[in-house]
Amino acid sequence: MPKRDSPASSSSAAAPAKRAATATSSPLAETTAESASSLDSCVLLAQQGEGAARVRMPWVGFGTYKLPQARKAVTSALRSGYRLVDTAFIYGGEKTEPEVGAALEAALATRPRDAVFVTTKHWRKFHGYEESLKCLQTSLRRLRLDHVDLWLMHWPGPAWTTMNRRNDMIEQHGAWHYAAAGHEEANIAALRAETWRGMEEALARGWCRAIGVSNFTVEHLRRLKATARVWPPAVNQVELHPYHQQRELQAYCAQEGIVLQAYASLGGQDASRAKLEALGGSLLTSAAVLGAAAAHGVTAAQVLLRWALQKQLATIPKSSSEARMLENGAVFGFALSAAEMAALDALEQGDAGRLCWKNDPLRMLGFS
Ligand SMILES: NC(=O)c1ccc[n+]([C@@H]2O[C@H](COP(=O)([O-])OP(=O)(O)OC[C@H]3O[C@@H](n4cnc5c(N)ncnc54)[C@H](OP(=O)(O)O)[C@@H]3O)[C@@H](O)[C@H]2O)c1
Repeated sequence: MPKRDSPASSSSAAAPAKRAATATSSPLAETTAESASSLDSCVLLAQQGEGAARVRMPWVGFGTYKLPQARKAVTSALRSGYRLVDTAFIYGGEKTEPEVGAALEAALATRPRDAVFVTTKHWRKFHGYEESLKCLQTSLRRLRLDHVDLWLMHWPGPAWTTMNRRNDMIEQHGAWHYAAAGHEEANIAALRAETWRGMEEALARGWCRAIGVSNFTVEHLRRLKATARVWPPAVNQVELHPYHQQRELQAYCAQEGIVLQAYASLGGQDASRAKLEALGGSLLTSAAVLGAAAAHGVTAAQVLLRWALQKQLATIPKSSSEARMLENGAVFGFALSAAEMAALDALEQGDAGRLCWKNDPLRMLGFS
């Protein structure tokens, strides 16, 4: 293991350094998505820095968004065989990371650190170099870890100034009216580049083993590439399912060596009834999905997760039920046929198929 600066004691003004090579003793095996055979099967992430060790990330992990009892659920997920836990600074109004930390501490008392791959995400209130490093320090303290395996920039967009936003003001002045000071539209791409510089520094210090982004469009990625020292981001975690397939982004990420990790693979948790009715129902009840499920003797959720794997997408399904965790982790023993894949592909609805974050105009998905 490399010598790591303590997150609590390091000076954030230290000069960026190339990341030291990391010897890894992980028992996780690397595979292609289609040949993944268990929750231990991994994708090899892009090398980040000269001489840096390649990091392996499980193809299928466990999500922790909107988990009422995250400590209990993460404990169950690890018991169920999951090796990757995906969380974020902001989840649960900042209450999820401490709960995940408690679950990890108990789990890591009886297994090596590298038996669990931990992802957390920077929060958009902390864009900028110094701010981003402070954000990760807080996450590490809450998670009771000296490093995470993957640290993602959660959003390309800015923070809000207030939770009390008036729709009439947004209509009159646009969403940027409520962007935090310093996060103005003209500044945000440069500020994001500074955040990435902070993330590169965290990588160099060993506070994370890999860095990546989330909710980035092709345009966000192109702009980041222009200033990045560490390229590519190891992962781009985005909403991706048959209703919203982001094919251009899939092609760009494949070309650049960025692993796309899908969220809301099962349809997510934010869509309204009206939205689902407009789309023709939930993904879990769509005829194409149910048809494939019946043909293979599996569930609708397993079909959706298998579709993602056969598209070379990593996934992080969330469930608060241990039975569903087990179900979502059992997606390796069957393969969808070309016709079944095509039937699911035909569910594509472009931007209209987006199920998450519909009420957040500053999410920055539509602008650069
Ligand atoms: N980067 C980002 O901006 C971002 C955004 C959203 C999510 N994420 C990450 O991605 C993870 C997954 O996304 P998500 O949680 O939004 O949605 P998801 O995994 O698509 O769906 C979760 C929903 O599906 C239900 N469910 C789980 N397994 C099921 C099964 N086998 N059959 C039927 N229903 C099932 C869950 O209910 P129960 O809990 O009752 O089982 C929950 O309501 C998140 O937890 C989070 O870690 C990241």
